[in-house]
Amino acid sequence: MTNTQTLQSLFRPFTLGKLSLSNRTVMAPMTRQKSPNGVPGSDVAAYYRRRAENGVGLIVTEGTVINHADSSNQKDVPYFYGEEALNGWANVVSEVHDAGGKIVPQIWHMGARGNVNEYTEEEIAHIVQEFANSAAAAKRLGFDGIELHGAHGYLIDQFFWEKTNQRTDRYGGSFIARTTFAAEVVKACREAVGPEFPIILRISQWKGIDYSAKLVGTAEELKQFLEPLVNAGVDIFHCSTRRFWEPEFEGSELNFAGWVKQLTGKPTITVGSIGLDGDVSTFFTTGSGSGNASLDGLIPKLENQEFDLVAIGRALLADPAWVSKIREGRVEELIPFTPQSVQTLY
Ligand SMILES: Cc1cc2nc3c(=O)[nH]c(=O)nc-3n(C[C@H](O)[C@H](O)[C@H](O)COP(=O)(O)O)c2cc1C
Repeated sequence: MTNTQTLQSLFRPFTLGKLSLSNRTVMAPMTRQKSPNGVPGSDVAAYYRRRAENGVGLIVTEGTVINHADSSNQKDVPYFYGEEALNGWANVVSEVHDAGGKIVPQIWHMGARGNVNEYTEEEIAHIVQEFANSAAAAKRLGFDGIELHGAHGYLIDQFFWEKTNQRTDRYGGSFIARTTFAAEVVKACREAVGPEFPIILRISQWKGIDYSAKLVGTAEELKQFLEPLVNAGVDIFHCSTRRFWEPEFEGSELNFAGWVKQLTGKPTITVGSIGLDGDVSTFFTTGSGSGNASLDGLIPKLENQEFDLVAIGRALLADPAWVSKIREGRVEELIPFTPQSVQTLY
């Protein structure tokens, strides 16, 4: 495990406008289906509070869905609309802030049940408005920003990906036109929250149904893909990969977050197997755990400012105190990520 001396770059503060984080660690969004009837209860607030108390710089909540008929197909996933659910979220914010943490909700629509080609323009406009309504609610409740879930094959990503978007109107046709829906969502959210409220957009090349999928094949294409999203008002890109150390394109060591930062000038969050020796697909496909791994490969990249923030998923599920243990060099006390540890500490 990495010596605490070398971990300084992980524990430097980060500031972007009004968003001020005490360090570079981010809790990755992780669905947990613990909100009966869509309402997050006090147990959900306690779950996030535990991570805040243990020094996580920024918590991104589990995906929480907008108000639309297709937005959720999983039981007990929290809503981000309606008085009862929003009251639940207000309590989550207050517990996290009380513990000195920062938190943004991950605003989610799980995707078209048929496919995005069947949505009328009117339906699309309605969905865009519901994203904006949730963004406005996040600001009203005192969240520190929002994250829009544009990754992993869910609705926004269904518009991005050529396999799921064969529209011939302005929402489809080329990889640039396929950003139109996301750009409209970001713009509507920006209008709803004003210029200073941070908007994070999570994107990924990989899809839940195809780990080898690619939205773009070159850095030049990535640049063109990102431009409309930057213009729409994204503040931070959360670049989802399964293994943070993998170069995104040939001829450079930069990972996905590294490229996105270089091409947009925007801060980025990296993610994928940080502190673990197996990637998330092993958990999704076989339900198996992963062992702890050194942070040695991560730190030089952070020091070089290849990216700005570092999201941790499964390691923080298994061990709510992961950040404080890493900071204090108590690595032998880390709770390993096993299906059992997740069951008990979720
Ligand atoms: C149980 C579980 C639930 C997840 N749910 C979400 C989610 O709601 N939204 C999302 O963007 N990613 C989700 N992910 C992906 C994580 O945010 C993260 O990108 C992934 O686990 C890789 O990070 P890790 O290797 O540190 O675990 C989930 C992952 C896990 C393990």
